[in-house]
Amino acid sequence: MSEAPCIVLLPGDGIGPEIVGAARRLLEALGEFKFSEELMGGCSIDAHGTALTDAVLETCRGADAVLLGAVGGPKWDTTDPDAPRPEQGLLGLRKGMGLYANLRPVRPSPALVGASPLRPDVIVGTDLLVVRELTGGIYFGDSGRDGDTAHDTCEYSVTEIERIARVGFEAARRRAAGSGSKPRVTSVDKANVLVTSRLWREVVGRVAPDYPDVELDHLLVDNAAMQLVSRPADFDVIVTENLFGDILSDESAMLTGSLGMLPSASLGADGDPGLFEPVHGSAPDIAGQGIANPLATFLSAAMMLRHGLDRADEAARIESAVDAVLERGLRTPDLAAAGESAVGSDEIADAVIASL
Ligand code: IPM
Ligand code: MG
Repeated sequence: MSEAPCIVLLPGDGIGPEIVGAARRLLEALGEFKFSEELMGGCSIDAHGTALTDAVLETCRGADAVLLGAVGGPKWDTTDPDAPRPEQGLLGLRKGMGLYANLRPVRPSPALVGASPLRPDVIVGTDLLVVRELTGGIYFGDSGRDGDTAHDTCEYSVTEIERIARVGFEAARRRAAGSGSKPRVTSVDKANVLVTSRLWREVVGRVAPDYPDVELDHLLVDNAAMQLVSRPADFDVIVTENLFGDILSDESAMLTGSLGMLPSASLGADGDPGLFEPVHGSAPDIAGQGIANPLATFLSAAMMLRHGLDRADEAARIESAVDAVLERGLRTPDLAAAGESAVGSDEIADAVIASL
């Protein structure tokens, strides 16, 4: 890419503007980028009455990549079915940008193994990737409320399952390349109960022979939830549908004990812009205090460079700088163990930038 890539920044709500601001400084220290900053989420509801305007969606579709902070907060929490909700902006972006593949890597930073709620001997060696289908299933099926009953419909097509299965197999291959270990995909469903899950299992099984080097197994989602805490280090790539992926990715994130560290990428068709965001939320309780942890957003910027802009070298520089700063013992309050002293967002951001 010879021209400076165009990056849309969507700071969003709560701590979003602080962490995205820090990520912008990080990127500016790294190279040439053109930024445009837009409203999405609660802030857009306040300004325009809707969480995502058509104009912002168009800007995002025309960008090279989109970096998002977080959306939502108590100000916009409501059970009124007609009131706009910040999350609609996120779902609208996923659908409107065709972002069907959500990648959530979980690798506890070596310096933070002690932060896990699991015993060190259980968590050590954990390095997994949740590949979550993001534009289908119960999130986008027919839904409605009629008096005393309500329904949400889960629907999946062969095409939707096949394309996300391929993302999973290919990610497993890429992760194993050069490591000497055998790539493994665990497909998660609820095939003992749900028809969509039986189709899921059938289609994933049909795609598998195209990847003979990748080992495939199937787990029921309840069992997967249990295995994730009992033997997390045995997982490689987990591929699953939208709702199961939402739940299992939060569970996986907590394995590390530091939700504030985890990045994600949402990708669509080849060549289309992706959306990159930290897994954690908008943390309205600590917004504006200068103590938010920007590292998950930094690692999301790294995923943006690697998956969205084909700049893997710079991605690796960010990742090493984050590891180096943690090795040196710098911690934001969310990462600090009892009795450990903590630094603010600016201080940890400056330290990462200085370590690039
Ligand atoms: C996530 C979030 C979203 C989801 C919400 C905010 C709509 O939990 O990205 O995991 O459910 O997908
Ligand atoms: Mg979630």
